[in-house]
Amino acid sequence: MSNAKLNASLEAIEYIKPKINMDSIIGVGTGSTVNFFIEELAKIKQLFKGAVSSSEASSQLLEAHDIEVFELNDVNEILVYIDGADEVDPSNNLIKGGGGAHTREKIVASASNEFVCIVDESKLVKALGNFPLPIEVMIKSRSYVAREVVKLGGTPILRADFITDQGNQILDIADIKIDKPEILEQRLNLIPGVLDNGIFANCRPSKLIIGRN
Ligand code: 5RP
Repeated sequence: MSNAKLNASLEAIEYIKPKINMDSIIGVGTGSTVNFFIEELAKIKQLFKGAVSSSEASSQLLEAHDIEVFELNDVNEILVYIDGADEVDPSNNLIKGGGGAHTREKIVASASNEFVCIVDESKLVKALGNFPLPIEVMIKSRSYVAREVVKLGGTPILRADFITDQGNQILDIADIKIDKPEILEQRLNLIPGVLDNGIFANCRPSKLIIGRN
């Protein structure tokens, strides 16, 4: 699978290369596929200004490669956002958040001019929902949110020994029907105490790169 992730990353580099210049800021996601992308991005670091990252883990890796990491609040424009996914349906709706970083990922993706998703073939699904849907919740609201999720037909499981970069917890929701991803994404985010959920339907990638072995 790592060959497929590397190949997706290499294709993403070829895709962004003609677009970047010395003022360009690249949005960088989180996860094992993105880690390959960061390694490749480091090889062309002299061609762009820096990155906005979606997690502390990615920031550390970017900085380890001497790529300057900017705060989202300090940049005017992000040329393109590159990130992986846990599931991709035929309309490019995603489930993300396997790494628990989806809240910041959605913010950076939304703030970018373009969202490019890089995956291996194992992430392609006919319909979303086999992968448990992550929801970031404020710790004090966890039980209330879990009860509301049960009313919607889901089975919430607290992600053990995990705190997000924002100091919150993750409920992973099994059994929830995702036949209308855009509506469920909005519905879940209306529950007080939910920071964001891992459905990316209202914020979908405009380009999908599928890495093959
Ligand atoms: C992290 C994410 C990742 O993009 C997703 O989990 C895919 O990760 P990987 O590339 O390791 O399979 O959403 O929050």
